[in-house]
Amino acid sequence: MGKSEKAKERREKRRQEISLLRTIPYSDHQRWWSAETIAVVTGGNRGIGFEISRQLAGHGLTVILTSRDTNVGLEAAKVLQEGGLNVFFHQLDVLDPLSMSNFADWLKKNYGGLDILINNAAVNFNIGNENSVEHARTVIETNYYGTKNMIKAMIPLMKPSAAGSRIVSVSSRLGRIHGRRNRVEDVTIRQQLSDIDSLTEETIDQIVNSFVQQAEDGTWESGGWPQTFTDYSLSKLAVNAYTRVMAKVLSERPEGQKIYINCYCPGWVKTAMTGFAGNISAEEGADTAVWLVLLPDQAITGKFFAERREVRF
Ligand SMILES: NC(=O)c1ccc[n+]([C@@H]2O[C@H](COP(=O)([O-])OP(=O)(O)OC[C@H]3O[C@@H](n4cnc5c(N)ncnc54)[C@H](OP(=O)(O)O)[C@@H]3O)[C@@H](O)[C@H]2O)c1
Repeated sequence: MGKSEKAKERREKRRQEISLLRTIPYSDHQRWWSAETIAVVTGGNRGIGFEISRQLAGHGLTVILTSRDTNVGLEAAKVLQEGGLNVFFHQLDVLDPLSMSNFADWLKKNYGGLDILINNAAVNFNIGNENSVEHARTVIETNYYGTKNMIKAMIPLMKPSAAGSRIVSVSSRLGRIHGRRNRVEDVTIRQQLSDIDSLTEETIDQIVNSFVQQAEDGTWESGGWPQTFTDYSLSKLAVNAYTRVMAKVLSERPEGQKIYINCYCPGWVKTAMTGFAGNISAEEGADTAVWLVLLPDQAITGKFFAERREVRF
């Protein structure tokens, strides 16, 4: 059996294990959440975000499904409400500071804050073997800065609790520093991003900004960036790095006000983003996010996951 067949077999085995795990209900003592637990999902109108919303509400939480387009967001929330789920809609465009602050005000006023944040909203303009960086700025601004700004806007609203609040960002294996394929060629950048003790938010910003600059002045091809879906991969690399930086910052919070922050790769999922290619459904792609934010009694933070397992950054 060849390498790729072996990998396919392993993937299929894990997929079956997870579908079995998903049939095991949480016991009463594991359920730290209730209908009062508020989960906010960005880009919840379709794809993985919609599925995360559906599954979290199915576990009995109250979900605030957000979408940049009001009509499609209302429609998506209505579908879930008609299924008897506690899902409510609010407009949120992660690229628009006013939309973000309106959302934060509304959330504070109506729910007193939140317990769970899922950063799911993102864009990717390449499909298959394409690698255009025409939209590099939008990709970096939505996927990295949108995620980062959302985290900053929501942290002050996170409710104190014994179980700790939780943030999960939907990322991608394409953004691994140590991946066998598609990693950043530039050793200095790799070192900067790997050295978690000295890594700062400013360093991550400088790295992505320098890429956007190169994409716009046409010099990016010799910049040593990831070779596949370059802008998208770098945006997710930045999300992963920021997750680690924030985990360090948030770990200093006192007991009772803890916030745990992690990220994960959903796999290759049949959604609009992949042109409905992919080898798993949105329902399966949502699984690790839901599992991670509902973890009972576990203070895992600053890690990267896929298929319910920790993966090296
Ligand atoms: N599909 C995969 O194989 C795969 C693999 C790895 C990671 N991911 C990640 O999984 C997440 C969900 O992707 P998906 O596959 O479900 O793709 P999708 O169907 O294209 O969904 C993306 C969502 O993000 C929203 N969005 C984009 N820009 C936004 C903005 N400025 N403000 C608010 N929402 C915005 C979209 O809203 P509109 O409907 O208005 O465009 C949509 O709801 C993304 O973070 C993606 O990078 C996907």
